[in-house]
Amino acid sequence: MVTVILGMQFGDEGKGKISHYLAKDHSIGVRFNGGPNAGHTVYHKNKKVITHLLPATALYNRPSVIAPGVLIDTSVLIEDILETQIHIKHLFIDHKCPIIEKPHKAQDKTSGGEIGTTGRGIGPCMQDQAARTGNRAGDPYDIGRHDTVEYLHRSMNAGRKILCEGAQGHYLDLWHGTYPYVTSSMCTVGAVCTNAGIPPQKITRVIGVFKAYSTRVGNGPFRTELGSMSINKSRIATQGQEFGSTTGRPRRIGWLDLIDLKKACEFNGVTELAMTKVDVLNDFNKIGVAIDRKVDGNAIYTHMEGWHTVTDRNLEQFIGLIEEFVGVPITIVSYGPQPKYTLKR
Ligand code: IMP
Ligand code: MG
Repeated sequence: MVTVILGMQFGDEGKGKISHYLAKDHSIGVRFNGGPNAGHTVYHKNKKVITHLLPATALYNRPSVIAPGVLIDTSVLIEDILETQIHIKHLFIDHKCPIIEKPHKAQDKTSGGEIGTTGRGIGPCMQDQAARTGNRAGDPYDIGRHDTVEYLHRSMNAGRKILCEGAQGHYLDLWHGTYPYVTSSMCTVGAVCTNAGIPPQKITRVIGVFKAYSTRVGNGPFRTELGSMSINKSRIATQGQEFGSTTGRPRRIGWLDLIDLKKACEFNGVTELAMTKVDVLNDFNKIGVAIDRKVDGNAIYTHMEGWHTVTDRNLEQFIGLIEEFVGVPITIVSYGPQPKYTLKR
């Protein structure tokens, strides 16, 4: 049984919180894409923990895998391990993982400005991977190497539950996102197969994570973006602490776009949705939701009545609108950063 967690927007949907919430129901956690550009913010035992490369299962000391498609910056990995403040027992790093080196980061800082990259060396490292000149985590001829693919297959055959924790989001995918304003790796469900070596038939649940509004860091199109003078924007920024967990940059903010959400769900075969940060919109009068496009491509909105609590009827109506539009049930609603603020539906 394999569960996949994917971002349905531009990253920062709260996949970290959902991964951590589901980690205790799974035996093994897997990171299968991205690299140190990602940032998982979770509250573990009432402590805020920010990691970039470790799966959330590491916090429960369950076996945790960094699969071949993940780019590794060894200094970030060490910082992650120290950040957890636990003696991590079973961390499997694939020998095929590309290694981010100092020149990659230097190059990204000078050339990544136009895209607004995280400056973590992702693009330049992937250039070396495509040119077949980059270094990888293990010497290919070393007999002691780790093949996480074999380990995952043995585990699947033994009936163990695997949680694949996606990084970034559908619209940052190298191929299917808003190119060229994308990351350099794959963020769609297919990455689980190509990167971690998990066959498609083994995937039983695909959980799409989205925020009750939208954010984007870095440059590129953002149809439902709120203008810099918008009161709603500054309110969401403050309430939602919308600053990048990897770079600290303020995130761009906009309303939820149901057309894009539906496309991302269809593309990835999403079986259920997790909506996060609904508490950030508490006490708003009206909440915008994009439901159509004008001929010029701009969004057409409907406005929903705001809610005050997670059990408010108005929130139920908002959920109903999304489920009907997208055709996928919302099974998890998150209304605060701590695990206790999670509602299972
Ligand atoms: P890169 O992945 O650092 O090359 O950055 C490419 C684009 O993806 C930029 O717009 C980044 O802000 C964005 N990006 C990369 N990783 C994340 C993430 O984890 N969350 C949100 N945006 C991201
Ligand atoms: Mg993040």
